[in-house]
Amino acid sequence: MDNYTLSNGVQIPVIGFGTWQMPNDETGVNAVLSALEAGYRHIDTAQGYGNEQAVGKALRLSGIPRNEVFITSKLDNTNHSYELTMSSFAQTLENLGTDYLDLFLIHWPNPLNFRSHWQSANAETWKAFEELYNAGKIRAIGISNFRQHHINELLKTAQIPPQVNQIRLCPGETQPELVSFCKQHGILLEAYSPLGTGQIFSVPEIISLSEKYNTTPARLCIRWSIQNGWLPLPKSVNPERIKQNLDVFSFTISPEDCQTIADLTDCAGHSLDPDTTPW
Ligand code: A2P
Repeated sequence: MDNYTLSNGVQIPVIGFGTWQMPNDETGVNAVLSALEAGYRHIDTAQGYGNEQAVGKALRLSGIPRNEVFITSKLDNTNHSYELTMSSFAQTLENLGTDYLDLFLIHWPNPLNFRSHWQSANAETWKAFEELYNAGKIRAIGISNFRQHHINELLKTAQIPPQVNQIRLCPGETQPELVSFCKQHGILLEAYSPLGTGQIFSVPEIISLSEKYNTTPARLCIRWSIQNGWLPLPKSVNPERIKQNLDVFSFTISPEDCQTIADLTDCAGHSLDPDTTPW
């Protein structure tokens, strides 16, 4: 699979396998195993998903060498401090059965527990991220669900700028200002819910364009995400669909059709405002 190159030179496969809502049991293990067997080499989990152990088990069962799979996890919303980052990171490594992570993200910029002082909590947390990065325990560090004001605040004290921002990007939610801000700062955009958590399958324009390209709505949206320079993280628990979703390198969407998709509005849901969510 092709790679993107992060601002620190680390290579990251252009499609990742998303595991949000994937159970920490045999179903989860089998989904990740199917993904690895289908050719995914990039798995995206999180402390908050509660399924790091299933991801780790699938990795071991696959027999694929650790250094051939890019693994991301994310710091839970309850862990925004130096000490809690350090201790929960150690637990994440143990859950995954590995001694390093490829990418670690702050999952949420402004969790309820730290809302009165999110700026200092993030600064302190980032210091721990930088220490782990400098110690070689994490190959790249980043953020998720951060908007411009959260990034600007982090950059005031960061020694190492974030290399990734993982946000919700799909037809109907393209966040153009945030995307261009991240690009200006050399931050790669990862797209979660690239299929709008399944809502793109009932969008008439997506259905007709997928017929035009003789492909599926899922592949069309994953391909469109890559042509935007984003890194899509589609998820599925169905082995056949997991495999199909990777088959997006044999066609190219024309610039006009990319624009048609970009112009869709309110068709596949929206992200929540990180400053007002009740968690
Ligand atoms: P399933 O797990 O049954 O395949 P997103 O990645 O935007 O969060 O979307 C995930 C949703 O899209 C899941 O409900 C998943 O269901 C569904 N999905 C993923 N790939 C496909 C596909 N190729 N065809 C139909 N549905 C899909």
